[in-house]
Amino acid sequence: MKKIAIFVSGRGSNMVSIIKAQKNGLFSAKIDVVISDNKDAEALKKATRMGIETKYIYPGDKKGTISKSASNLILDTVLKRDISLIALAGFMRIIKRSFIKTFKRPILNIHPSLLPSFPGLDAQRQALDYGVKITGCTVHFVDEYMDHGPIILQASVPVFNNDTLESLKQRILKMEHKIYPEAIRLVLENKYRIEGRKVVVEDT
Ligand code: GAR
Repeated sequence: MKKIAIFVSGRGSNMVSIIKAQKNGLFSAKIDVVISDNKDAEALKKATRMGIETKYIYPGDKKGTISKSASNLILDTVLKRDISLIALAGFMRIIKRSFIKTFKRPILNIHPSLLPSFPGLDAQRQALDYGVKITGCTVHFVDEYMDHGPIILQASVPVFNNDTLESLKQRILKMEHKIYPEAIRLVLENKYRIEGRKVVVEDT
C-alpha cells in the first residue's frame, strides 16, 4: 500500500479534506504521517483526532525556508517510512532542491490562485487588490522554486464586487478541498504524463 505524508504549518483544512477523501475511498493509500514546522499548528491536533501520527520538526530560525539539518531530518523520516507521495497542505516553507532530488517521488502543493498569477504569500489578497474577475486554486508538482512546478489541476472561482478577503478565501478554499484530493488520486494512480512543463492527465 502506498503511503502519503502531509506537511502542514497551520489550520489544516486541506489536510482534513485529504484524510477524509482517503477514508471515503477516493484513493487507496495510507496517510502515514503529518509533519509540521509549527508545534502549535491546529492541523496537528486535527490529525491526532483523526487517528494520524504526527511529527513536529524544528525548521530553523529563518522564515520561509528550512535549515539544512531540519531538511535532512525530514528527508530521513520520509525515506525511512517509504513515503510514496508528499502533499504540502498550507506548508509555508520552500522545500530544498537537495530534498526534492533525493526524495525523487512526487511532491504536490496547493496554492490559492491560478498560477502563475499571484504566487507567494496572501495570494487571495493579491488577486482582490489587483482587481481580477476570476481567480482560483492550483495543485502543482513542487520544484525548487516557489509556487512554480508543473500544474496538475486548477479550478476557477469568480470574484464578486462585494467580496471581502474572507468571502473570497472561503470560496477558493471550497474548491481547494475538491481538487487537492482529486490531484492526489491522479498522481497515485499514475494517470498522467509530463511533457516539459505540461502535465497531461489521462484519466480513462
Ligand atoms: C490554503 O489556502 C493553501 O492554499 C494556502 O494556505 C492555506 C492553508 O489552509 N497555501 C499557500 O498559500 C501556499 N503558497 P489550510 O491549512 O486550512 O489547508
